[in-house]
Amino acid sequence: MDLSERWEAQAAAWIAWARAPGHDSYWRFHRDQFLRIVPPPGRRTVDIGCGEARLTRHLQALGHTVVGIDASRSLVAAARAADPAMDIRLANAAALPLDDASVDLAIAFMSLQDVDDMPGAVREAGRVLEPGGRFCVAIVHPINSAGRFETQAPDAPFVIKGDYLRGFDYADTIERDGLSMTFHSRHRPLESFFFALEEAGLMVEALREPQVPDQAINMDLSRRWQRLPLFLHLRAHRP
Ligand SMILES: C[S@@+](CC[C@H](N)C(=O)[O-])C[C@H]1O[C@@H](n2cnc3c(N)ncnc32)[C@H](O)[C@@H]1O
Repeated sequence: MDLSERWEAQAAAWIAWARAPGHDSYWRFHRDQFLRIVPPPGRRTVDIGCGEARLTRHLQALGHTVVGIDASRSLVAAARAADPAMDIRLANAAALPLDDASVDLAIAFMSLQDVDDMPGAVREAGRVLEPGGRFCVAIVHPINSAGRFETQAPDAPFVIKGDYLRGFDYADTIERDGLSMTFHSRHRPLESFFFALEEAGLMVEALREPQVPDQAINMDLSRRWQRLPLFLHLRAHRP
C-alpha cells in the first residue's frame, strides 16, 4: 500500500479524531500558530491534502475562496457532506486539477509528510501559484520523525537510533480518550523539503519551529515536547 491508500484505510478513524472537539493539537494550538504565517484572503486559495476539510472550512470562514484537494475518496466524501457548497476535489497532490497560475495562495497543512511524491506535490504547488503567490506549509518536524524520547519524563533523552539523513516510512498509533488513530507518514530530512522548494522555483521567506504552549501540556503532551519542535511551518514565495 502506498501512503495515500493507508490514509484511505484510516479515513473513519481520522474523521473521528480530527472532529472530536478539542481533541487534536489542531484545535488547542496548532491551527492558530500556523495561521500566523498565512497571508490574508486573496484571489483563490488551494488547500492541498485537506482531509475531511476542517482547515478548508475555517479558511472559507476567514474569507478565502478555497478549493480543497485530497486523494482519499472517503475523506473527500466527508468534506463534501460537511459543506456541500464547498469546492472539494478528489486528486493526487502531485497532479493538481488546477490551471497554471490559477491561485495566489497554496496551503499544505500537515500533508506533505504523508504524500508519496512530495517533490511532485511541491512542484505542483509552484505550478498553480501565480507570480507573487505564497505557499504555506506545516509538516511534522523532521527531527521529531527521526527519533523518539526514551521515556515520558520532561528531561528524557531524545534518541535517533537510525539515520536522520535516510528517508523511511513509519506509522504512529496514538490512543487517547477512547479514540485511536494510526498516522502513516514518511520521514524525510529537512534538505529534501528545501530541495523540492528550490526545484519548484519557490523561495522560503519565513520559517517557524513553534513551541507547544503551556496550556497544552498535560492534556496529551508532556513537558518534554517543549524542548523539541513537533512541527515546522514555512512560507515560500513564488517570484
Ligand atoms: C494528517 S492528514 C491532514 C489533513 C488536513 N490537512 C487536516 O489537517 O485536517 C494528511 C492528509 O494527506 C492526504 N494525502 C495523502 N497522500 C496524498 C496525495 N498523494 N494527494 C493528496 N492528498 C494526500 C491524506 O488523505 C490526508 O487527508
